[in-house]
Amino acid sequence: MDAYSAVRMKIGRLLSLFFIFSSFFLVLSGNVNAAPKPHILKPFASLSKESQECAACHKEKNPSIYAQWGRSKHYGANVGCFECHSADKGDKDAITHEGQLISVIVSPTDCAQCHSAEVDEFTKSHHAKAGQIMGSLDNMLAEVVEGALTFHGESPAAVNGCWQCHGSEVKVLPNGDLDPTTWPNTGIGRINPDGSLGACTACHQRHEFSVEQARRPEACGKCHLGPDHPQKEVYEESKHGINFYANVDRMNLDSAKWIPGEDYDAAPTCATCHMSATRELALTHDVGDRISWTLRPAISEKIDAKSLAAGKEVKSWEARRADMQNVCESCHSKSMIDSFYQQFDSLVNLYNDKFARPGAGLMKFLKENELITAQPFDEKIEWTWFYLWHHEGRRARHGAAMQAPDYTQWHGMYEVAERFYMELIPEFEEILHKAEVAGKKEQAEAGRKMLEEVLSRPEHAWFTGKEPEEVKAARKKAQKEFQRRYLQ
Ligand code: HEC
Ligand code: HEC
Ligand code: HEC
Ligand code: HEC
Ligand code: HEC
Ligand code: HEC
Ligand code: HEC
Ligand code: HEC
Repeated sequence: MDAYSAVRMKIGRLLSLFFIFSSFFLVLSGNVNAAPKPHILKPFASLSKESQECAACHKEKNPSIYAQWGRSKHYGANVGCFECHSADKGDKDAITHEGQLISVIVSPTDCAQCHSAEVDEFTKSHHAKAGQIMGSLDNMLAEVVEGALTFHGESPAAVNGCWQCHGSEVKVLPNGDLDPTTWPNTGIGRINPDGSLGACTACHQRHEFSVEQARRPEACGKCHLGPDHPQKEVYEESKHGINFYANVDRMNLDSAKWIPGEDYDAAPTCATCHMSATRELALTHDVGDRISWTLRPAISEKIDAKSLAAGKEVKSWEARRADMQNVCESCHSKSMIDSFYQQFDSLVNLYNDKFARPGAGLMKFLKENELITAQPFDEKIEWTWFYLWHHEGRRARHGAAMQAPDYTQWHGMYEVAERFYMELIPEFEEILHKAEVAGKKEQAEAGRKMLEEVLSRPEHAWFTGKEPEEVKAARKKAQKEFQRRYLQ
């Protein structure tokens, strides 16, 4: 036995003692705390013979993988290479390797041998379904508009772009190797050869699988950033992000128990709000469990709306919101949280009512009257509308949801308004004009009526010069006062 193994055995024994003690404590403490108890996993008494062989050889071949595993909790609990990588005979991706049946992919089903609660929660989340993007509008971009099917029948734009975040459908070649058009890939909704969904290593990087790393905002930032969903940037400019980076050494990120208000208080991370346990709530691997809106579509709706319409019973948006508010309550007063939610809702409603519904209505009119083709993205107005809701409208909503005023204003509503008044409306009018010239008088007339109806609403009256005189006068007065203040 080398020194490393001796140390490992010692750690193993200490851990067993710790588990006996902690189970004893849990029994004694009974129901003091309302929060459901964390899952306590029993370490194995020793490392399996199979894993000892894998590790001994791979220690030479891949010293980094060996070292990462050596630092992991799995190592301490005698969970080795074989416990994760072993395969069954019928598995599509099973390969015979040094006398053992193994697979390279370690899917949620493999992790579920020991972590079934996390896997169940993850599997019912939106994350698990993120690989099913075929047929979406965005997908047409990667496969057709930007791409071409030049990489063994797939588009390199999708393989290297979309799929790395959303997940590919992993295919196995006849010799058992993983098809390079579909792997390496650890997208969040990967479709695995065993039929399971997702990749736990999307957040838990191998081979350390450290919770400390997964609790950091960077773990989510691989995917949640950029022009159409800038949650990472939003977080960084929020007071929460500022406080996190200023106090990261006081965040207690490596603590086994990690409850806001008990183990840390400087700031919440993405995980704190969307996943972690509180004094009352259990840790969840369903990241949709605490959000009440969906801010992704052109027009936002409550997150349970689609399910309710389909007659499915799901956790209501009110219950989800109450859980998120429970997180906030670890650090803020109830009245502040209630008022914050009123502010947030008001922004989503403003965006929906002033720009999204009218914009969607105009686009629908063009399509139904065949004033634009059925083909997406072949006309300028389709790009204009896509920018408005998919990029700018989302940014405004995400900024308001997570306290980033710059995203709400300058990267958000400002750009939505400019896009609407300076591009969408002129482009709509131009299409009507062309239709009229081409003899489609009736459609052009109906389109103008529709636009007029939209623009005659009070919130658009400023644009058509139809504001009531007293409103104009009041603004003029305020402008004068502002100028005076500014010049002094
Ligand atoms: C006698 C040496 C040896 C033993 C024992 C061994 N491996 Fe390997 N393994 C290798 C070598 C060599 C490679 C190829 C590495 C490379 O290409 O960099 C490899 C590759 C792998 C790969 C990657 C395969 C791929 O296609 O990417 C995995 C996963 C793996 N081994 C797991 C295991 C597991 C699990 C065990 C124990 C059941 C094990 N190995 C036992 C030497 C060994
Ligand atoms: C807790 C489970 C777990 C343990 C323990 C584990 N692995 Fe892995 N391993 C994974 C996961 C997850 C992947 C990512 C594969 C995928 O699903 O895409 C992986 C990938 C790999 C790969 C291929 C990818 C690469 O980065 O080259 C190799 C080789 C590998 N493991 C070797 C080992 C060896 C050797 C050991 C033991 C020293 C080990 N693994 C222990 C879960 C594990
Ligand atoms: C054979 C059982 C087994 C398998 C398979 C397994 N784990 Fe674990 N895992 C454990 C045990 C036991 C612990 C607890 C170790 C401890 O707390 O000391 C653990 C702990 C963890 C932790 C917490 C680490 C920390 O820093 O506290 C994470 C994260 C984790 N596992 C993820 C995974 C993922 C992801 C997979 C699949 C790729 C996986 N595990 C596969 C047994 C397993
Ligand atoms: C950098 C990672 C990343 C890339 C690359 C990426 N996405 Fe996404 N995508 C996301 C994230 C994160 C979300 C969820 C955003 C949110 O909730 O605000 C998302 C949302 C979506 C949605 C909306 C899903 C729903 O439930 O409404 C679709 C459809 C989509 N992406 C398709 C694609 C396609 C197709 C591509 C390639 C053209 C692509 N994405 C590229 C990360 C990415
Ligand atoms: C979206 C990112 C993400 C994904 C995907 C993810 N996890 Fe986690 N996981 C986390 C975070 C963050 C924590 C730490 C939360 C905390 O302690 O507050 C965690 C904690 C854990 C723990 C420790 C639990 C405990 O009670 O201490 C285990 C085990 C685990 N994850 C397993 C898994 C498995 C298995 C999968 C795949 C089904 C998975 N995770 C997928 C982010 C993720
Ligand atoms: C590998 C990419 C990836 C990582 C890493 C990732 N996500 Fe996501 N996330 C996505 C995609 C893609 C979607 C959209 C899924 C869809 O709608 O189909 C999404 C959706 C979400 C949603 C909306 C869920 C819902 O039910 O509507 C939340 C909240 C979320 N992610 C939070 C997180 C947090 C928090 C982390 C880090 C702890 C994280 N994500 C890590 C890709 C990722
Ligand atoms: C202070 C708590 C908090 C933090 C920190 C936080 N979020 Fe959020 N997040 C929220 C709230 C609140 C909402 C909106 C909830 C609702 O709809 O009721 C939200 C919404 C979301 C959504 C849904 C967007 C959609 O399009 O529907 C995603 C995705 C998301 N957050 C990801 C993240 C990521 C990634 C991070 C870290 C970079 C993060 N969040 C940090 C509280 C937080
Ligand atoms: C771990 C503690 C913690 C949690 C949990 C938390 N926050 Fe905060 N929050 C802070 C800190 C610290 C600040 C910065 C306070 C300051 O301005 O000095 C802050 C600032 C804010 C601000 C800006 C206030 C201002 O005066 O500018 C808002 C709004 C806010 N949080 C809302 C929320 C909401 C909503 C949630 C839950 C979704 C939440 N917070 C969860 C710690 C937390």
